[in-house]
Order: sequence, then C-alpha cells, then structure tokens
Amino acid sequence: METIPCDFTIFGVLGDLSQRNLLPSLYQLEKAGLLHPETRVIGVARHDLSQEAFIEEIRGKLQTFVREPLETEPTERLLAKMRYVLVNLDVPEEYKRLVGLVDPQQRVLVSYLSVAPTLFGAICTGLEQAGLVTPNTRVVLEKPIGRNLATSQEINDLVARVFSERQVYRIDHYLGKETVMNLLALRFANSIFTTNWDHNTIDHVQITVAEEVGIGSRWGYFDQAGQLRDMVQNHLMQILTLVAMEPPVNLHDDSLRNEKLKVLKALRPITAKNIDKRVVRGQYGPGFIKGKAVPGYLEEHGGHPASSTETFVAIRVDIDNWRWAGVPFYLRTGKAMACKRSEVVINYKPLPHNIFFNSYRSLPANKLIIRLQPDEGVEIEMLNKVPGLSDGLRLQRTMLDLSFSEAFGKERIAGAYERLILEVMQGKQALFICREEVESSWHWIDSIQAAWAKTNEPPKPYPAGSWGPVASVALLARDEREWEE
Ligand code: BG6
Repeated sequence: METIPCDFTIFGVLGDLSQRNLLPSLYQLEKAGLLHPETRVIGVARHDLSQEAFIEEIRGKLQTFVREPLETEPTERLLAKMRYVLVNLDVPEEYKRLVGLVDPQQRVLVSYLSVAPTLFGAICTGLEQAGLVTPNTRVVLEKPIGRNLATSQEINDLVARVFSERQVYRIDHYLGKETVMNLLALRFANSIFTTNWDHNTIDHVQITVAEEVGIGSRWGYFDQAGQLRDMVQNHLMQILTLVAMEPPVNLHDDSLRNEKLKVLKALRPITAKNIDKRVVRGQYGPGFIKGKAVPGYLEEHGGHPASSTETFVAIRVDIDNWRWAGVPFYLRTGKAMACKRSEVVINYKPLPHNIFFNSYRSLPANKLIIRLQPDEGVEIEMLNKVPGLSDGLRLQRTMLDLSFSEAFGKERIAGAYERLILEVMQGKQALFICREEVESSWHWIDSIQAAWAKTNEPPKPYPAGSWGPVASVALLARDEREWEE
C-alpha cells in the first residue's frame, strides 16, 4: 500500500480515546509499515509537559493499551515521530505553537479532534487564525456530534465556517470494523444474497449490539446521553443502513453515503401515539454477569439514585420504501447484558407450501446470521435430511458455519481505528459520515426523545446479566416473532 507523509495532530492526546484507541492504532500501523517514514505525530493537550516526559507518558500508555507485548523497533520508530505541544484550546493565539511543527502548504495535515464537541468550534478557529487551514488540511470529528438535531447543526455550522465538507471526516468507529465492512462484500459480491434481499424473501431483520460491561466509571458522561444517543443514533443506524441500502454504483465516497442517507430519510417516525408498541427503554439493576455479582446502574460509581437514563433500548423500525415494505427491523442494544454480542439476523420468509406435512406441521424458516463481534463469522441455519433408512423423512436444523478465524486464521483482524486513520491520511471519505447523514439520523432519534418526553415513563428495569426487560420480548411477541438467543 502506498503511504504518504502526513502531519497527524491529535487534540486531546492524553485523553481516554487517544490512549485506548488512537495511540495503539498508530503503533499497529507503524509496525505494519503503513506510516510513511516522514510522517509526524503531534500530540496537543493543555498539560505542562516536557518533550521527554511526554514520550515516557506515551510509552507507558502503549504498554498498557496495546493488547500484545510491545515490539521495541516499531515502538521506538513511532516515538521518534512524536512531538508534544501545549495549547490551551480556547485561546486562539496559542495555536501558533503548531506553526513550524506542521506544514499544510506542502503536506497533508490531519487534525484529529479527540476532545469534547464544545471545543470543536474553538479548534477550527484557532487553526484558521494560525494560518494552518489550507486545501491540505483535514479535520476528524469524534462523536457525539450534538445531542439532538439542533445542537448537531450548531456544531456542524461552526466547523463549516472553516472547513468545506470535503475536509471533514466524522468518525463512527463501527464503519472501521472488519465485519461491518464485510456486510458490503456479503451483500454485493454474492449473487445468492443480492437476489434474496427484500420484502419478497425476507420476513424481518434483527440487529443486536449487546455489551457485557456496565457503565463503570463513565457515569457522568453516559447519564447525559443514554443508550439511544450513545449507541443507536450512530452505530446501530450505520449497521441498519448498510443492511438496508440499495446497491451503490461503486464504493466511492458519495456513492455509499448517498445510499445510506436514502434509508435514513425513509425511516418511519415514532410518535407518542405508537411509541409504547415500537420502543422499549430499560435500565439495569443489580445482577450477575458470568456468576459475579455486579451493581445496578444507579449504584455505579458516581451515580445518583434518581436517574431515569436508559441503558437498554429495543425498537421496531419500519422503512417506508419499496424494498422493505412490510419488513420490520428490530434493533436492540444494552449495557450489562448477558454477554458481548453484536449480530445481524436475516430471517427469511416461511415456505409457501410444506410437502413434509406428515412429519412436520410447520417448517422453521431459514436464517442468515452475521456475527459482527466477537467470534466474527457468518452462519446459515437450514434444514437437512437426517441420514438413515427409517420410515418417513427426518429433518434436522443444521448450521453452515463460516468462522472468520478458521477461514482466515493467520490474518490479524485490524482494529477499527487503524483502518479509519489510514483512510483519513489517504483522503478517502466513504467510511465517514457526511453531514446530512448525522442530521437525518438525529431527526429520527429526536422523534423518539420527543415521544418519551411526552409519555414520561420511567425505563423498565432488567437485571444485569440478562437480555433486557421482559417488555423487549413482548415487542416481538406482539408480531408473533422472537429474538434470536
Ligand atoms: C462507543 C460508546 O461509541 O461504543 C460506548 O460510546 C460503547 O458506550 C462503545 O461501549 C462500544 O464499542 P465496541 O467497539 O466495543 O463495540
């Protein structure tokens, strides 16, 4: 792969996201030879640190967060590329300290804003006033981009005062995941699925993103957001659009994004009138995960007992377009659930006629199960004849199981941030969210928040370590369906 020299600036280099994801990803890219030898990584934060102290700090973080023993050579090569600059992000004059360390006249300058969105406007202005915004400058925005449509528009407007949409890279790290990308391959490289992907053959679709961990020390942030904003507005919407979109003409930036956008625009709004039949809100109480007692959401560190923030959401989504007429998509996501599991289950329609009626009153329909994480793979649930000479024909459910680790054993699955960092450096926008996508998604999420505000019902409790409130089972039972367990 061709690499280009680049000035990669991380605003908030000492923050959690940078330590856990960005720095370990840069290490992996360096180790794989994917960072150009002349690439520079500039860490920006407001701590008073010497260059030496900064390098030692980063070395320690790499040791903690890279999930394998660090190799000396790539570590030293990466550290040699790194510089530290102290900038108080809300003081425009201080951005001049970056001048000389980066050179956007000659080289690509990536500014990765790994800070609270309230600082996005100040950073863009600071960069502009320091003369660091040229056509070579790109800006990467981390979520959350606002907490509703209005605030996301404010943030996007502030950024747009300085950068054109072509220079803005909005991250949803799910789009960097290998298996999420594989949805494109599965759908558009295999005719068996391409021709069986609409209301004629599919009964309904389930998308589950379950996390085993609770909120832990993130209570302060999470309580302001809730699972709908934290997970559904971005990650689940992205999976949904990739499953539901029309075939793009190619994989170029706008082709993919325009098709996803059309799905978002076709989502049927949820209203106070139908919300009780469409959406379930839950909050975890104390329970057991893998046999270990864990606290409920309200008892987590820093929690207060009166919060009604949801940690679980299940939604029946209807897409009002030709392809998906009458095919519901059921989404569910939660914290402190029975196990970590993300998957898409395509449930096919039952057969029109059963010739095995003498032995089987009804035949279960086929399922395509796409395991996104962990244990990435694809399964097809189908019926087979049990071998033997006995009377009648015995059928049995069997799995065609493609496990990625078995099929591609030696290939290391790259982390989402590794792919996304590379794509920004190369100036490819297809795996980033365009402004209209963010805003359409918020528009739909706002309809749910507004309906919740009207009905004002507290979230339904569920024990930590379970699959969510009972009402989530009822959501599907009402339609004579059940969750894949
Ligand atoms: C983040 C959310 O965007 O995604 C977190 O803010 C969540 O609350 C995380 O835990 C899940 O990401 P992953 O890659 O572990 O599925």
